[in-house]
Amino acid sequence: MSVPPVSGRLQWADVPQHLRAGLEDFLDAPVTKAVTPSGGFGHQLAAVLHLADGRRVFAKAAPDDDPLTAANAHEAAALGVLPPGTPAPDLLGLLRTAGWTAVVTAHLDGPHPDLSPQSGDAQHVLALLDELTAIPASAPYAAAVHATPSAVAALHGWDELLHDPPAGLSHTARAYLPQLAELEAAWPALAHGDRIAHGDLRADNMIRDRTRGVILVDWAHATTGPSCIDAASLAPQLILAGHQPADVDRLLRVHPATAANPDVTTAFLTALTGHWHHNARKPEPRGAPGLRVYQRRAAAAGLTLLRHRLS
Ligand SMILES: Nc1ncnc2c1ncn2[C@@H]1O[C@H](COP(=O)(O)OP(=O)(O)O)[C@@H](O)[C@H]1O
Ligand SMILES: [Mg+2]
Repeated sequence: MSVPPVSGRLQWADVPQHLRAGLEDFLDAPVTKAVTPSGGFGHQLAAVLHLADGRRVFAKAAPDDDPLTAANAHEAAALGVLPPGTPAPDLLGLLRTAGWTAVVTAHLDGPHPDLSPQSGDAQHVLALLDELTAIPASAPYAAAVHATPSAVAALHGWDELLHDPPAGLSHTARAYLPQLAELEAAWPALAHGDRIAHGDLRADNMIRDRTRGVILVDWAHATTGPSCIDAASLAPQLILAGHQPADVDRLLRVHPATAANPDVTTAFLTALTGHWHHNARKPEPRGAPGLRVYQRRAAAAGLTLLRHRLS
């Protein structure tokens, strides 16, 4: 049984029978119900699987010729070597069967965190990130994530907009364009570092689990870098959730993960915002309804914060 789509995602009933049978075999129990979670823009299967023996697990799966399979394998490799105590789901396994690959993790039970100013979740997440980045990543983690080039280090977009400014570019973006392109160009050289970075932090990539507290999920972009990456990624999300840009800027200036090096934080935020501004203008990709709308909103939030930091 499966629950109707809430997104462009594949449903449990859509994936080949041999994959479903392989997963049931791997889990040693029949699946009685599959629930598609809200959140995310991926087109692959993502489902909470309810098993006949009462257990629940979370599974993602895609065909092997889909780029998401490499991302899922990267996530599994990272989850397998994160230090104990990291706010991440436990990896149950990576299953490869007849041209499909599934990553299976422990089920987390709860909503996405509430990042609005009325909730304590944002401060909780920032404290988690300070802790996560307080010490260098282990050698096994670094080796696992470095098998894939970092998408975080490659973030850009202002360069493309500077080269060919689109008609609809906002007055603010146009006014700051040369400065933003210059800051963004500095990012790849600053992106190196030895701290754990989740690399794709948004509310829908976190779950406030009833027993474990806030847990970061979707480690497909896991990498190493300067300590600011995840805390700075959270900043535009806080603005989208209703925080004032001045308050968010103040948070970035006091939290250890971002306070140590404001210039690196600004360069990263510039590259991330450039990525959103550039990509929001592209056609909507298959199976990702809402992605471009989200990128437009995130682009505006990022630029508001950057204006604040650059003025
Ligand atoms: N371990 C888990 N337990 C319960 N739900 C999860 C778990 N991991 C992820 N989810 C939910 O599934 C959604 C999609 O999973 P995610 O790993 O983010 O995949 P995608 O790459 O498709 O965004 C998340 O937004 C979250 O709501
Ligand atoms: Mg996700």
